[in-house]
Amino acid sequence: MSNALIVYGSTTGNTESVADTISTDLSNANYTIKKINVSDVGVDILNEAFDLYLLGSSTWGEDEIEFQEDFAPFYENMNGDLNLSGKKFAVFGCGDSSYEHFCGAVDALEERLAKLGATLVCESLRIDGEPEESEINEWTQDVINAA
Ligand SMILES: Cc1cc2nc3c(=O)[nH]c(=O)nc-3n(C[C@H](O)[C@H](O)[C@H](O)COP(=O)(O)O)c2cc1C
Repeated sequence: MSNALIVYGSTTGNTESVADTISTDLSNANYTIKKINVSDVGVDILNEAFDLYLLGSSTWGEDEIEFQEDFAPFYENMNGDLNLSGKKFAVFGCGDSSYEHFCGAVDALEERLAKLGATLVCESLRIDGEPEESEINEWTQDVINAA
């Protein structure tokens, strides 16, 4: 059996509901899940051994990209003290394509993870507006196939 860590930040509950669906889908595929709100954890959790790490943040801000407010300090601490080489990651987040930087937090996370040596297993999930279950189910299947 494989295990997976899901860390998410969510202000109005959208990214949290995506994390819940991903968690259910991975459980159904026999993963053991640790799902944590980012406000309850520090980056040290990324030093723990999981087969798969999933990070999710919505995007806020007007002119510049802002992480979801609880996720911002976690992202700031994702620095050179972490060595993520050999670890498998997938990224997800909610946004709104009417903003200039659609899901900018997802883009920033992808970049940072690559810099820290992590492997991104597949294209990130960028949800535009209300999360649709089928879209999440399909993406999670892609993650499982690639992990
Ligand atoms: C003031 C404000 C700024 C936002 N800025 C962005 C943005 O820059 N890019 C984007 O993709 N979405 C933006 N959004 C949309 C949110 O990311 C979207 O509503 C998302 O579903 C919130 O997810 P959450 O409930 O998980 O926090 C913004 C929303 C608000 C209200």
